[in-house]
Amino acid sequence: MLIGADELDRPIASAMVGYDGHRGWLYYLAVDTQWRGRGYGRALVERAETLLIERGCPKLMLMVRQGQPSLERYYHQLGFSDSETVTLGKRLIRDE
Ligand SMILES: CC(C)(COP(=O)(O)OP(=O)(O)OC[C@H]1O[C@@H](n2cnc3c(N)ncnc32)[C@H](O)[C@@H]1OP(=O)(O)O)[C@@H](O)C(=O)NCCC(=O)NCCS
Repeated sequence: MLIGADELDRPIASAMVGYDGHRGWLYYLAVDTQWRGRGYGRALVERAETLLIERGCPKLMLMVRQGQPSLERYYHQLGFSDSETVTLGKRLIRDE
């Protein structure tokens, strides 16, 4: 998902949302530095929620890297809460 375009036709904000049939997942939410604090992040999260609800998805998940308390606060004020789970990962293709 992309939002808007600046005077050079570059996207202002973007996010990736997926639905695996069980949960929805939000990845790569990002707003261009000069456009932050104007509601574009919130708008993308709300758009993701609408798309998922339309598909019958009951819950939206996202992952925040540890050690980013301000980002956690950001998502808390958008209605997210800690899911008290441990995320495990296994790399299948080497990160070059
Ligand atoms: C996190 C990010 C997407 C927020 O986008 P944004 O467009 O600046 O956020 P918004 O303008 O929608 O902010 C919505 C609300 O969150 C608040 N907020 C913004 N950043 C915050 C922060 N770091 N901590 C707490 N609250 C924050 C705003 O004040 C606003 O509150 P309001 O609606 O009551 O006025 C943006 O800062 C960013 O791109 N960061 C770098 C990439 C990143 O870390 N992405 C997250 C990956 S998990």
